[in-house]
Amino acid sequence: MNFCKTIPFFFNFALIFFLENIIFAPLVDTFTIPSDDIHALTRRSKSYNPPLVSSSIIIPSAAEIVNLTRFITYSAASYCPNSKTWKCGQLCDNIPQTTVISTFTTKPDFITNLTKTYLKTNDTEAYAVITVNSKDREIVVTFRGTADLGNILKDIEFIQWPYAYASTSIPLPSILPGDYVHYGFYTMFLDFQTPIRNNISTLIKQYPNYQIVVTGHSFGGALALFTALDIKQFFVGINPFLYTYGEPRVGNSNFASFVNNALSFIRRVINQAELVPHIPYTLGWIEYVHHKGEIWIANSAANAAVECLGVENNLCSSSVNEIDWNFDDHFGPYWGIRIDASLCK
Ligand SMILES: *[C@@H]1O[C@H](CO)[C@@H](O)[C@H](O)[C@H]1NC(C)=O
Ligand SMILES: *[C@@H]1O[C@H](CO)[C@@H](O)[C@H](O)[C@H]1NC(C)=O
Ligand SMILES: *[C@@H]1O[C@H](CO)[C@@H](O)[C@H](O)[C@H]1NC(C)=O
Ligand SMILES: *[C@@H]1O[C@H](CO)[C@@H](O)[C@H](O)[C@H]1NC(C)=O
Repeated sequence: MNFCKTIPFFFNFALIFFLENIIFAPLVDTFTIPSDDIHALTRRSKSYNPPLVSSSIIIPSAAEIVNLTRFITYSAASYCPNSKTWKCGQLCDNIPQTTVISTFTTKPDFITNLTKTYLKTNDTEAYAVITVNSKDREIVVTFRGTADLGNILKDIEFIQWPYAYASTSIPLPSILPGDYVHYGFYTMFLDFQTPIRNNISTLIKQYPNYQIVVTGHSFGGALALFTALDIKQFFVGINPFLYTYGEPRVGNSNFASFVNNALSFIRRVINQAELVPHIPYTLGWIEYVHHKGEIWIANSAANAAVECLGVENNLCSSSVNEIDWNFDDHFGPYWGIRIDASLCK
């Protein structure tokens, strides 16, 4: 028995147990807001003047906007139950010549069940769809984001865990410095890791000249990030593109640097004053920092977006006053695409 490893494990476990059961469970209990009130809270969309072009601000090219629009369409389509057959109305129709290879839904874990019990909601499972598109010659892995309040609350499971490069199991807990990530997002990703690797391994042989793209909205953006990292590490020579929308913070500054070096192509889109990219934030010794790649849609009605160099660039979404953070902007429109179930017909 290795006591050096066991002690931090019990420490972490006790901490998680304490936070989940003593702090969050009663909080979750009082958080069953009727949906009308949630709507009242979310109608607070706010637009901004985009920052001027400078050494850290670039205007995205027209070709780039075409891709950014296409991948939010994939991400929005994944919220439609009928995306499993790619017959989900206008969102799927906007990406013709698409074949669904497989879909994956995770089994609910202990924490998901806990939030389910407290919130009495369904459908808290994460979902991924793998498609091949012959028109744009791309293999796309798309993750569905937060489908309901249960998942939103799962997102507050913000305790950090060491990130293990290419590992398929949850690494041992540790209190040593290193790459630390959000426990909830990371364990959720591990459920998808092996089946996605297996599919990608087949597909790259079948479509050797296709670009691999990983995308997702909200919580799905965090799963997309882990998946892009895994593909990069596991398949030598493959450089996946990563497009996320409304992605929450995923890990500490060590992890952000790791991501910045590991992935050469990242676009992390933030719409106006949407809340989710601002959480989790650093709290005490638990540090959360975004990776590179921010594209800030300062004014979505005017499609005014800028590419923001560096990390947590003060001229972009970091300039938004926290009083204006809202859920409405989280659902778009991102270049005209809204995350909206009524579009699934
Ligand atoms: C757009 O996406 C495709 C892959 O799907 C890629 O080949 C192309 O380089 C991208 N264009 C830009 C401008 O990012
Ligand atoms: C969560 O609940 C589901 C269905 O009720 C069950 O199959 C699953 O085993 C539970 N998971 C855990 C970790 O308790
Ligand atoms: C959850 O599913 C059950 C059975 O399908 C249904 O009766 C219930 O209304 C659903 N609850 C919510 C909050 O959607
Ligand atoms: C993708 O994975 C699923 C489930 O693991 C499997 O049934 C399917 O055959 C795989 N498809 C490819 C093309 O590898």
